[in-house]
Amino acid sequence: MSKPTVLAPARMPALVIEQLASRYEVVELGDLQNPDKVMSQCADRVRAVVTQGTAIDRAFMQALPNLQIVANFGVGYDKVDAVAAAELGIVVTNTPDVLNEEVADTTLGLLLMTVRQLPQADQHIRKGLWRDHSFPLTSSSLQGRSIGIVGMGRIGEAIAHRLESFGVSIAYHARNCRDHIAYPYFDNLIALAEAVDTLVVIVPGGPATQHLINRQVLEALGQNGILINVARGSVVDEQALTEALENKVILSAGLDVFEHEPDVPQALIDMDHVVLLPHVGSASVPTRNAMSQLVVDNVIAWFESGTAVTPVVETPAG
Ligand code: NAP
Ligand code: 8YV
Repeated sequence: MSKPTVLAPARMPALVIEQLASRYEVVELGDLQNPDKVMSQCADRVRAVVTQGTAIDRAFMQALPNLQIVANFGVGYDKVDAVAAAELGIVVTNTPDVLNEEVADTTLGLLLMTVRQLPQADQHIRKGLWRDHSFPLTSSSLQGRSIGIVGMGRIGEAIAHRLESFGVSIAYHARNCRDHIAYPYFDNLIALAEAVDTLVVIVPGGPATQHLINRQVLEALGQNGILINVARGSVVDEQALTEALENKVILSAGLDVFEHEPDVPQALIDMDHVVLLPHVGSASVPTRNAMSQLVVDNVIAWFESGTAVTPVVETPAG
């Protein structure tokens, strides 16, 4: 029997491509001049797609009549229409757990940088300002803050564990209260925002969470409020956030993700009271390698045993 064909619609980590290419035919469209032509030539052969950040919609999957599995690099799979995949009998996998600690570490770093304006303090030295005057005291401190975590899943829990050692109070919002979590649960996001002064957002992207953090939530968070978003750009109404920061409705924000990344609104770039990161939550070599390995393991397990390692909830394991 001929080797299964694996399609990579966009660039994937070398570790993924090298391992898959040692077993299967791999077709990479990322750097091609004419990807549509190559895709139509191999469409009937493709049985797996490996993807990172490309929209994999119903039409894309329907164009590949023998497609069995879409293996997503990343725990967030909002770019993959998993409901359509399930209806088409295609399994979707993601890369949960292997990045929990890295993303939680990055989140704590971003929180501290934002509260204490550490990147701005670094710039104070680099711009040669220190000899002239001390860096101004920050109006806020992490001490005494009350943190509301929006999304108490795998990564939310890892963030909460770290926050405990900082002595701050913790509460959370999700659609469901989780029995084993002792922190106060708010089924209403506005009520949580009113009760805390810092929101850390770590829910999945997609239609269900589109602009979950809107003007009303930011107003409820209030003048001392700090918003940290490490989830997806789509979860925050970026226009409402920009206005809230301009009008001092909230104090500041730390953002790792943006609505139209890599495009970041100039208004945010021009503000000196926000901290901006280029979606680096999981971006260390060891963690990205672990994510790559899980993509590969899912594809191999599928072809060897007909069962995926980490299927998403919408689609069956096999
Ligand atoms: P997870 O374990 O599935 O947790 C998701 C949490 O969000 C759960 O508590 C879930 O609880 C809650 N939730 C889901 N839909 C919601 C809604 N509509 N309203 C309120 N809460 C909702 O996921 P995870 O592994 O922690 O990852 C979370 C997300 O983080 C990923 O999907 C990804 O988008 C993002 N992420 C970003 C980076 C980065 O580099 N910045 C890295 C990794 C992950 P309920 O189901 O009870 O609502
Ligand atoms: C990755 C992420 O940067 O896992 C996720 O959901 O957002 C990050 O770990 C991203 O998936 C790689 O494209």
